[in-house]
Parts: sequence; C-alpha cells; structure tokens
Amino acid sequence: MSAPGGPGLPPGVAVHRALATEPDEAVLALLDEAERERLARLRRPADRARFATGRRLARTALGALLGVAPAEVPLTVGPAGRPRVADAAALDLSVAHAGAHVFVAVADGGRRVGVDVEGGSGAPLPDAGLLGVVCTPSERAALAGLEPGPRHDAFLALWTRKEAVLKADGRGLLVDPTTLELALEDPPRVLVAPAGVPGPDRLTLRDLDAARGYRAALAVVAP
Ligand SMILES: CC(C)(COP(=O)(O)OP(=O)(O)OC[C@H]1O[C@@H](n2cnc3c(N)ncnc32)[C@H](O)[C@@H]1OP(=O)(O)O)[C@@H](O)C(=O)NCCC(=O)NCCS
Repeated sequence: MSAPGGPGLPPGVAVHRALATEPDEAVLALLDEAERERLARLRRPADRARFATGRRLARTALGALLGVAPAEVPLTVGPAGRPRVADAAALDLSVAHAGAHVFVAVADGGRRVGVDVEGGSGAPLPDAGLLGVVCTPSERAALAGLEPGPRHDAFLALWTRKEAVLKADGRGLLVDPTTLELALEDPPRVLVAPAGVPGPDRLTLRDLDAARGYRAALAVVAP
C-alpha cells in the first residue's frame, strides 16, 4: 500500500487538488455525521465548497489507499484540529484551501505531511504587523531588501512553507511562527526549528505548482 509520489514528490506521498465546488448529493453521501454537522454550521457558500471539496479529495485518496469506499474512511479530527485517519497510524493527511483552490496531501509508511496554499484577493499582505507575527528578524531583513511585487510573492512563499511545516508538526499556529526560521532563497529548507518541530534531518520542504497569484508548499516528515 503506497501512494504514488507525484512529479518531484517522494514515494508514499501524493498531492491532490481541485477547485472548490458546492457539495451535491453524491458528495454529501461521502461525509460522516460530524462532517455534515460541520458543513451545516458553515454559512458562506465558499466555505461550504472548500470544506466539502477537501473532504471529498481526502476520502477518495485515503479510500484508495485503504481499499475501502470513500464514505467508509474513518476520518476524525485530532488535537489542535489536525485531521487524521482513526486506527491507521501509518497514514497521514493534510488539507489546505485558499480562494477556490483546495489541496490535500496524503502519505503512508508513517510519514507525516503538511500542505498549505495562500494567495488571491484574500491573501495576507506583508505589512509590518503581519511580518512581526510571522517572520524572524533575519527573514524580515531579507524581505525588506525586495521590491514590493517580489516581496509579496516571497512572503507568500515563506508563509506557505511555514504553515506546511507547522501543519505537519500538528500544532499549527499554536507554535509561534517566529520561532521557526526558513531560508528565503531556494531550495526551501528549515534553518532553525523550535523545540518539538522536526528539523532538516527529518523534514523536507518543497513548493507545489499553484495558480497565478498563489503559492503552495508541502512539508514531509520522515518516519
Ligand atoms: C492549521 C491552521 C494553520 C490552518 O489555517 P488556515 O490558513 O486558516 O487554513 P488552511 O486552509 O491553510 O487549512 C485549513 C485546514 O487545516 C487543517 N488543520 C486544522 N488544524 C490543524 C492542525 N493543528 N494541524 C494540521 N492541520 C490542521 C484542517 O484540515 C483544515 O481544513 P478543514 O477544516 O477543511 O478540514 C490553523 O487553523 C491552526 O493553526 N490551527 C491550530 C490551532 C488552533 O487554533 N486550534 C483550535 C482548534 S482545536
């Protein structure tokens, strides 16, 4: 049981993506009770579409790995909101959405994954306040040396890479992102990891293809 590595991805890791669509009857039938309740609490059509599309992608990919129907995948939510597959410690998944773009990474073999996508009109702008809560002093200094256009793109790249790492860790933004330092130049890599967050010996980081104006990143933690 091994997920294909997509182009440039390690074996055992796959990334699935789709444009978010409002859930129809077929998609609703894939969801379990907790997911339907969550969907019912989402008022904005765009939020409903993103959530349902993420679950559809995750259930379809994990069902193929487990050899069960998508509706039978025992998806649950762990501590700090991290989605996980109950009773399948070797399997992992991560979900991200921005605008209409939904990404789901799945991994087997005990690997842990984190995926993130940011951009579009809802993208965070790298103003002083946001830079202060996301970046280390040397990351801020490197960004300050760039022209506004490239600076925004470099910030989105940095932000998605950080969030991918912190999602793979499982604590998300409960970990202060200013305690995680990444290289601003390619290849994407961790320079300093805070306590408990996997460092470069176990974690690999890569950018994923994304639509114009968006950045996406994937972190994979070796078993
Ligand atoms: C994970 C987190 C960074 C996502 O932030 P975001 O940019 O708003 O949203 P994204 O689209 O990138 O990701 C959303 C997905 O992250 C996943 N996620 C949520 N918490 C996660 C965590 N701790 N670790 C990994 N993934 C997580 C979920 O699958 C979610 O998608 P879904 O709700 O459709 O299933 C942020 O929600 C976070 O740090 N959460 C943990 C801390 C927290 O606030 N916990 C309170 C809930 S218990």
